[in-house]
Amino acid sequence: MATAAPPGTALFLKRWLRRPFTMGAVVPSGRLLAHAMAETTVTAIGERAGAVIELGAGTGEVTKALLSTGIEPSRLALVERDSELAAFLRRHFPGPRIVEGDAADLPRLLASNGIDRVAAAVSSLPLLSLPSEVVEGIVRGVFAVLPPGGALVQFTYGPRPPVPRALREQLGLAGSSGRRIWRNVPPAVVWTFRKPVAA
Ligand SMILES: C[S@@+](CC[C@H](N)C(=O)[O-])C[C@H]1O[C@@H](n2cnc3c(N)ncnc32)[C@H](O)[C@@H]1O
Repeated sequence: MATAAPPGTALFLKRWLRRPFTMGAVVPSGRLLAHAMAETTVTAIGERAGAVIELGAGTGEVTKALLSTGIEPSRLALVERDSELAAFLRRHFPGPRIVEGDAADLPRLLASNGIDRVAAAVSSLPLLSLPSEVVEGIVRGVFAVLPPGGALVQFTYGPRPPVPRALREQLGLAGSSGRRIWRNVPPAVVWTFRKPVAA
């Protein structure tokens, strides 16, 4: 008997066919990767108060894992640029705030949604397939809203850190990675980039 695809998979594929470079993957993140992202995010949050910002929420695979770790839905803000995916998130995740917009505009998006305190950011944005100036804008925006010591959690399929070295050095970021998750398709690594305490 055929196994039914999880909800959202067909929509994800449809949006990938439309925008392969901004989707970055053909299928949503697998369960193991989503859980690794969520657990790394919980560690990154530590005792910090404030919102947890998820960038590129897609069909919510990482969102589900974040919620399952016990992060309060009202603390989560899901940033998604694709309006069909944002509508899907609104239907399936009534608790978190859905922020429809471009992650490159993060400080303004958060301000206009009344979010003035951020504990951590977790991103599934396809940084490897975006132009370098777009990546720089997104990463600078994320670290502009994170507090000193705050962290961005980001996965990558590539062999190198998903935040380019020059940018890490300019922002003084410390990067660390987990083990490669071979059972994800494609295999992926979760990175944490931390803002210096005295920035
Ligand atoms: C690889 S998918 C990840 C989806 C989901 N988080 C997962 O792990 O299955 C990347 C997502 O980022 C979104 N995205 C790409 N560029 C974006 C941007 N500049 N701002 C906000 N979302 C963006 C895409 O629409 C897509 O939903």
